[in-house]
Amino acid sequence: MKILIVGGGGREHAIAWKLAQSPKTEKIYCAPGNAGIEEYAECVDIGVMEFEKLAAFAREKEIDLAVIGMDDPLVGGIVDVFEAAGIRVFGPRKNAAILEGSKAFSKDLMKKYGIPTAAYENFDDPEKALAYLEGAELPVVLKADGLALGKGVLICNTLEEAREGVKSIMMDKKFGAAGNQMVIEEFMTGREVSVLSFVDGKTIRTMTSAQDHKRALDGDQGLNTGGMGTFSPSPFYTDEVDDFCRQYIYQKTVDAMAAEGREFKGIIFFGLMLTEKGPKVLEFNARFGDPEAQVVLPRMKNDIVEVFEACIDGTLDKIELEFEENAAVCVVLASKGYPVSYEKGFAIRGLETFKEKEGYYVFHAASRREDGVLVTNGGRVLGVTATGKDLKEARANAYEAVKWVDFDNKYCRSDIGKAIDESFVK
Ligand code: AMP
Ligand code: GLY
Repeated sequence: MKILIVGGGGREHAIAWKLAQSPKTEKIYCAPGNAGIEEYAECVDIGVMEFEKLAAFAREKEIDLAVIGMDDPLVGGIVDVFEAAGIRVFGPRKNAAILEGSKAFSKDLMKKYGIPTAAYENFDDPEKALAYLEGAELPVVLKADGLALGKGVLICNTLEEAREGVKSIMMDKKFGAAGNQMVIEEFMTGREVSVLSFVDGKTIRTMTSAQDHKRALDGDQGLNTGGMGTFSPSPFYTDEVDDFCRQYIYQKTVDAMAAEGREFKGIIFFGLMLTEKGPKVLEFNARFGDPEAQVVLPRMKNDIVEVFEACIDGTLDKIELEFEENAAVCVVLASKGYPVSYEKGFAIRGLETFKEKEGYYVFHAASRREDGVLVTNGGRVLGVTATGKDLKEARANAYEAVKWVDFDNKYCRSDIGKAIDESFVK
């Protein structure tokens, strides 16, 4: 099969690597891709929001399967454009990708169908939001409705901060049109877990659990980032938690979307908070997590082409997902200064060692070639993943592999997968 991936980060590199393992795969293209993805795919210089150009390219190359990695094109309706052009495509249509694209929509859906989540109110008028804050319990959580690169969530400890937050989201439009509406919700405490799933409209198959570290600095301090590292599985995602989520969250979400006439095909990423009162949904995403994909896919045994096709064809009930009985840790190597300001264009050295060793992977988040030399091309540069028999071993292996790589201003957290309470790290 000829396959086109849309996207160009670490997640898409992991997808390309996994697709390349399938005997069904003949040729992979990736738009726009990056210098790491080039190992598996021919990279094409078309932007992820250039739907018509991408569709024309897919038709010209007789693409058999398109896989959309990123949220923006999904929420913008790329799947509808591809389908109209007769291209087989994996991912939710625009009317279903709204599950990620609008937090107000997803909160209302959960309320209507009784899916556990934090108590909330939606607002499209800043004056009403400000008035509501007067009676709200602190801390309080403010969320811009639309996509905001994971930055549209503010946790406010004082009324003053919350007022400022409403102002910056809805009046100053700090996150652009994403702030035309906002959600104000109850603050929850507990451990966070990400569970990704494949969905074919009716059937849902969950993947192994993972956890992201969103903050820039050790000990979950500093600014929020796109993700500084992940581990899988999460020791906090017990059988009991899984049973609860199967009963009250996963299938219910799929059925709710179908009942709303928004059949969901693709990936639903459940961001969960394990609260004292049981698991609750923090957010939904409509695609693989980045860098969750970099720890989940290396542990997945299935042929991913078969799984993608089953989602498109509505035959996911015939598939059982299988994962290795091991663990994986991904440490993101960033450029010092990320997520605020950082330089690009530094030579990257030491990636050869990954080719010689089994169970070690380096997924490129932002790299390019300059006169034949591999250089950094963004804030998050590489995701170094290693597997091991358990989290402790995977973590030791990942940090060993981090030492193989070198570029100026290299920065990473030193506590990815340390899971705060060491007693849980077997
Ligand atoms: P979201 O994009 O909705 O997942 O929010 C980003 C991050 O903000 C989450 O991963 C949580 O760490 C935090 N967060 C979001 N909503 C809440 C909440 N209601 N209570 C506590 N923390 C939250
Ligand atoms: N790692 C979180 C996300 O992909 O949204």
